[in-house]
Amino acid sequence: MHKKLPIGIFDSGFGGLSVTKSIHNLLPIENLIYVADSAFTPYGDLPENEIVKRSILITEFLVRKKNSKAIVVACNTATAFSINELRKKFNIPIIGMEPAVKPALKVSLNNRVGVLATSGTSKSTKLSALLENHLGKARFYVQPCPGLVNAIEKGIFDDVKLFKLVEKYLENFKKNDVDTIVLGCTHFIYIKPLIQKIMGSSISIIETGEAVARQLQSKLVEFNLKEYISISTGSTKIILTGDRKKNVTHVIDQFLLGSNIEFRVEQSWG
Ligand code: DGL
Repeated sequence: MHKKLPIGIFDSGFGGLSVTKSIHNLLPIENLIYVADSAFTPYGDLPENEIVKRSILITEFLVRKKNSKAIVVACNTATAFSINELRKKFNIPIIGMEPAVKPALKVSLNNRVGVLATSGTSKSTKLSALLENHLGKARFYVQPCPGLVNAIEKGIFDDVKLFKLVEKYLENFKKNDVDTIVLGCTHFIYIKPLIQKIMGSSISIIETGEAVARQLQSKLVEFNLKEYISISTGSTKIILTGDRKKNVTHVIDQFLLGSNIEFRVEQSWG
């Protein structure tokens, strides 16, 4: 397989761009193709079989039509329900997201750890199995957050409505003196400053983007797929499955803030 081929990345919407930033930071010369499944956001409220169907369809598109050499499922919910199926069906490296529970245990001082996730991830057997692995080491508080992904998708991360919603979802963590929060959804990285404001500066917030980028890098090396020689940075294409809204470029800009990614929105879905 040719090393110049792109890395395919997908999420239900723009949240996975947080992971894309980490990937671009670590592997700047790789070409990236990102699918935002905007026609089906949020995954967290979809039935399991629908999430699996969407994940297979998008991966098929990224592999067969776009010749991706590896896939990053930049969505905790899609990973929880479909990663096994994807790995069975596609013969290339498939990297997924998992709430960073183990790193949180290293950081927590009082062993009270909160996991913020979508409704889907919260009730997944993948998450219960993960927490069971660490049973007895800490108290875990899992908080499903319906409505939060949709609110974040707008690309405004600090308005009053969003603040109130986040405050509501953090109530239980506050009550139980949680000192470490695991972000179990790639959208939630964008509300890190809000969480900090509500919980106080001593709260530790654990995210997974950089770890996933490192894992991708080692898979590319292992399978001899890593690009080493290029005079320019790689390209980033973004594809939406839903209607392209007028201000979409501006919204994406907000999600990519702080990175030097130059992107193009392509209309080639379907
Ligand atoms: N970014 C997805 C995740 O990490 C959001 C899922 C959703 O659309 O509900 O879980």
